[in-house]
Amino acid sequence: MVRRVGILTSGGDAPGMNAAIRTAVRTALHYNLEPWAIYRGYHGLIHGELEPMGSRDVSGIIQRGGTVLKSARSEEFMTPEGRDRAVDMLRQHDIDSLVVIGGDGSFRGALSLQEQGVNVVCIPATIDNDIPCTDYSIGFDTAVNTVMDAVNKIRDTASSHDRVYLVEVMGRHSGYIALYSGLACGADVILIPEVPYNLDDVCEKLRQAAKLDKTYNIIVVAEGVRRLDDSDGSASPAMQIGRYIANQVGLETRITILGHIQRGGDPTVRDRLLASRLAYHAVELVARGRGGKMLGEVNQQITSFDLAYALAQEKQLNMDYYRLYNILSSI
Ligand code: F6P
Repeated sequence: MVRRVGILTSGGDAPGMNAAIRTAVRTALHYNLEPWAIYRGYHGLIHGELEPMGSRDVSGIIQRGGTVLKSARSEEFMTPEGRDRAVDMLRQHDIDSLVVIGGDGSFRGALSLQEQGVNVVCIPATIDNDIPCTDYSIGFDTAVNTVMDAVNKIRDTASSHDRVYLVEVMGRHSGYIALYSGLACGADVILIPEVPYNLDDVCEKLRQAAKLDKTYNIIVVAEGVRRLDDSDGSASPAMQIGRYIANQVGLETRITILGHIQRGGDPTVRDRLLASRLAYHAVELVARGRGGKMLGEVNQQITSFDLAYALAQEKQLNMDYYRLYNILSSI
């Protein structure tokens, strides 16, 4: 009986997922495994949205953002009954192994399947780059480049109108996108959840800049920073902070919330290669029957970690970048 390996993408989509899918399918065939597509993540698994995939099914996708397997969030899978249905569906199709391409929420689901005897290997894919045990997750590099392109355009109009521009970026509770894109764009201020900010200090910095004839400013705000009203609701922090600055400093401000364009776009070389290397090693582990693992790239080496161990870790922000930002953005 040819062994079958299921492949699914879960959580927020990320550029590079298709490169991972392509490699997983072709590596499975290389190791005489039968690759099976599972559509719409765990939701599709529970509802039987599965079919075998061949090499031609993943032609022409390496350059595309998004995921041809689609993704979905599944409340049902959060229940023991839902997880049991997922395991039953795998067994009905003689699929004994699974490659999960997604974020930490997807990994928690994968661990529960592993505990029920499914041979699961996870690879990190989320633009947030908030997954421990890997320097970068698939999609992060493309997202940061997307933000950089947008901020470059905003800088043109900011310099033409002598305004303060706030650009809000994604990242959930992580400041990685804001910090890396802000540093790459030469932002004057970068606000991230990991470092508490004092708005009056920000206003004073803008006043000092104005005295030195700095006529416009770029402020990059991570969506997960503290809200001014301390609510954790959907209010945009950049909108609140922009209003405060306009009132306190008297400078014209404009706010751009980049939103979901950060999730799309053709994956960069870095993301395509990261995705391909991780997916290759994931299927190789699966072929050897060694599941219960998460793969990451650490110092450019593909490294495997016990899934339970990885889920107990917390991703730390690389504060060297923050210290560099502080030096480079001082007046
Ligand atoms: O986790 C990826 C991400 O893009 C976050 O940065 C963002 O906060 C969230 O997904 C948005 O979720 P949704 O696509 O469900 O609106």
